[in-house]
Amino acid sequence: MRKCALFVAFAVVLAAQHEDKSEKKSKNPAIGNPEAIAAGQKLFFASCAGCHGPTGDGGRGPNLRERGAWHPMDDDTMFTIVKKGVPGADMPALNRADNEIWQIVAFVRSLTAPAIEAKVPGDVEAGKQIFWSKGGCSGCHMIAGKGGFPGPDLTNIGGLRSVNEIRTSVLDPSERGVFESQPVRITFRTGGTLEGVCVDRTNYAMQVIDKAGKIHRVDMGGVEAVVFSKTSLMPGDYKTRLSRDELRDLLAYLSRQSVRPPAN
Ligand code: HEC
Ligand code: HEC
Repeated sequence: MRKCALFVAFAVVLAAQHEDKSEKKSKNPAIGNPEAIAAGQKLFFASCAGCHGPTGDGGRGPNLRERGAWHPMDDDTMFTIVKKGVPGADMPALNRADNEIWQIVAFVRSLTAPAIEAKVPGDVEAGKQIFWSKGGCSGCHMIAGKGGFPGPDLTNIGGLRSVNEIRTSVLDPSERGVFESQPVRITFRTGGTLEGVCVDRTNYAMQVIDKAGKIHRVDMGGVEAVVFSKTSLMPGDYKTRLSRDELRDLLAYLSRQSVRPPAN
């Protein structure tokens, strides 16, 4: 039940962001433009990060990535807030040229827009090779019906997550905190154990996918103990195992995975 409710909320946010996006895209060329986003990031570090955090997660100022779901902020509103500040609050006006403010808005936007809507630099074909061979990703993840378990299916990852979220998932899987498929270890009354990821759960039963991809429906009546892991099953050492270029290419490939066609 809970899962379904979350899903609906998420779908509404996505729909709202999407509408917002397509309407704004034509208005300002900085939005979605990699050079403008990079320039905006520098300006953001210099003028905003002190209060909003380097990744917009908030501090003295509010979180810019996870705002109230029901009020997506459009680009013009953000532009005005940054240019004029918030009178009476601790948010200063920024004395910069309009095009620089647009670069900042483009950067903040890039933190939340689904990856498929961003122009992500990198070699998609090279990234594909890493996913299916060197990185070993396909041993645990499926794309378009091929690949393995127990990681989530990544067929629509670019349509669901921002570039930043995908990057964090790959580089710091345990940092993400929210595991859609939570690693779990179950001990049965009969003595046996089962390790895998929990993909669904009620008070009476749990569905667990093991390493081999087999789905187990576990009746809670027969369970002695359930231990959820706080660390992801996903390896945490890709930062060192893959080069910078390889990571960039992998991110480019993942960002293109969407059930909707790219917007640009
Ligand atoms: C001195 C601290 C500080 C600095 C520097 C700062 N902000 Fe803020 N910002 C705040 C505070 C506090 C608020 C909340 C204002 C309010 O109460 O409405 C805010 C609000 C905002 C909002 C509206 C958020 C929302 O959800 O309504 C945006 C967007 C924003 N800031 C962007 C920026 C950007 C971009 C920069 C850099 C150019 C920046 N801020 C610099 C403190 C700061
Ligand atoms: C040993 C299995 C395993 C391997 C290998 C693995 N992953 Fe994962 N991955 C998982 C599991 C399990 C999750 C879900 C739990 C979590 O959120 O950490 C996950 C989560 C993710 C997510 C987040 C999915 C979402 O819904 O947001 C992404 C993206 C991802 N992996 C990409 C990769 C890439 C790219 C590689 C290869 C470089 C890789 N994974 C290798 C098991 C694996």
